[in-house]
Amino acid sequence: MQESYIQNLFAERIGGARYGKDTAIYKFEKIKRAKRAAMQENPGTELFDLGVGEPDAMADAGIIETLYTEAKRPENRGYADNGDAVLKKAAAKYLQDVCGVTLDAETQIVHSIGSKAALSILPAALINPGDVVLMTVPGYPVFGTHAKYYGGAVHNLPLLEQNNFLPDLKSIPAEVLAKAKVLVLNYPNNPTGASATPEFFAEVVAFAKANSLVVIHDFAYAALVFEGKPLSFLATPGALDVGIELHSTSKNFNMTGWRCGFVAGNELLVKAYSDVKDNTDSGQFLAIQHASAYAFDHPEITAEIAKKYSRRMDLLVDVLKAAGFQARKPRGSFFLYVAAPKTAEAKDGQGTIAFASGEAFSQWMITANLISTVPWDDAGAYVRFSVTFAAKDAEDEKRVVAEIARRLGRFTFRW
Ligand SMILES: Cc1ncc(COP(=O)(O)O)c(C=O)c1O
Repeated sequence: MQESYIQNLFAERIGGARYGKDTAIYKFEKIKRAKRAAMQENPGTELFDLGVGEPDAMADAGIIETLYTEAKRPENRGYADNGDAVLKKAAAKYLQDVCGVTLDAETQIVHSIGSKAALSILPAALINPGDVVLMTVPGYPVFGTHAKYYGGAVHNLPLLEQNNFLPDLKSIPAEVLAKAKVLVLNYPNNPTGASATPEFFAEVVAFAKANSLVVIHDFAYAALVFEGKPLSFLATPGALDVGIELHSTSKNFNMTGWRCGFVAGNELLVKAYSDVKDNTDSGQFLAIQHASAYAFDHPEITAEIAKKYSRRMDLLVDVLKAAGFQARKPRGSFFLYVAAPKTAEAKDGQGTIAFASGEAFSQWMITANLISTVPWDDAGAYVRFSVTFAAKDAEDEKRVVAEIARRLGRFTFRW
């Protein structure tokens, strides 16, 4: 491309005049390239993609039918702005029935065009230059990215196995805490698969009150639980005084591409979100909102999806354990997060390969085994297996996992 004056016009937040000249290759691009190369080198060998972070299945037929019906209604055709009452009411009922949380549909709930959109909008309502956001790592970085766009700074809280992947709030230095405004949490967690506890959420509420913090709980994997009930942050006594929760149809109802969810909780925060949202987007298509309302009216859909992931998780945990991994079935999400081995020794005497990081191990897994995972090196060397891998049915799942076992079984792993 020819150099243009446009090159000098980019904002510093995306690199200024250096924008696009960075030659570093980012994680997901590296994975994509490695997959392409592995498939070229091994034609006919199936590549198992356990890296994808989205469901492998379609939305429920009732949701799709509702979309079809609602899309034909002339009154649904226009700008939806901050939404009508349909999704709000369904969300309030869902919060009551599934999460045990009572909210006012009119003042404490507003739809979103997915949680990613909400996480990108909220910093405009909260972050001034110099403000600090407390974010967990590894994690979903969108709120922090936008907070930095507004001149804010991110303080990372590592999620460590010895703390059950919950952040250590006491570890935050006083000078950081003095500038901190927002704490972003996500349980069930991507990528660790960890769940919160009522005790931890109670500690969060007390901590937020003591330090004047807003809590944003990203509940993207809300009801994808394998045991017990979904644990909403809003069910914590006092939570409504300090925060909001982000709900999404994406993972819970196999609707990633539909782009719909809702923000719920503290009335003032919901109002601020709505005001900035109103200046950012014009709302999700009402037919999609109404189909989402149908979804939230049918939480049994999520329970069925969770059953499938639970079944796959059992298979995968057994296989990884047999290969020596410290794999423990999570209580929710669809992620299995395990420490990357330091070495793999080929049982046929072909030698030993050493891995300096989760990324090195993940790259080798693609190249040598045609198994794709996502590496995380932010808080120890780990890889994330997702049970959203493609499989036609329960029998096919067994076939896929047995083949993964066979490929891994050729090596002795050490940590
Ligand atoms: C933790 C977390 N939050 C939010 C999202 C995005 O959700 P949505 O599709 O509702 O924008 C994801 C998607 O991967 C996620 O893992």
